[in-house]
Amino acid sequence: MKWIIFSVLALTIIACGQGTNNEKADMYEASELSAMMRDMVIWSKEAKATLDAGDTIQEIPQHFYNLDKQTATRGEHLEAAFKAMAPVYTNALKGIERRDSQQFYYNASIQACKNCHGVYCGGPLSVINQL
Ligand code: HEC
Repeated sequence: MKWIIFSVLALTIIACGQGTNNEKADMYEASELSAMMRDMVIWSKEAKATLDAGDTIQEIPQHFYNLDKQTATRGEHLEAAFKAMAPVYTNALKGIERRDSQQFYYNASIQACKNCHGVYCGGPLSVINQL
């Protein structure tokens, strides 16, 4: 299993970390947005496990609602496509929080990851597809 995780991480770095003048800084210093994305991966995994066990997701990390205010490595957060897609994710979180159908809104949240990553750095899709 370890090598799979490693190669996924390596892919992420290749897909998201290149094409800028300060590649080194990219690799070692996560942007605000990258850091939040990593939290979102961890939280989504936990949320999936909770639903799979037939339990209720109790809490949404409230800072995820500030997704659109995080600074990205290459200024993606300033682009119209990013601004249009960020609320799709946070609206799905609100659905989970309202406890309507948590499975439905969880799936919607993962679909929101996929939509945005279809436009921005596709590397993490291999991680997202496991959520
Ligand atoms: C509105 C657009 C958008 C949504 C929604 C989105 N992402 Fe991202 N994601 C990005 C952008 C842009 C980056 C690059 C950030 C940077 O390099 O500063 C990124 C980076 C990442 C990374 C790489 C982080 C790193 O280590 O550098 C992962 C993993 C990731 N996203 C997973 C997810 C997951 C999982 C979801 C859904 C729960 C998600 N993303 C939802 C736009 C989005």
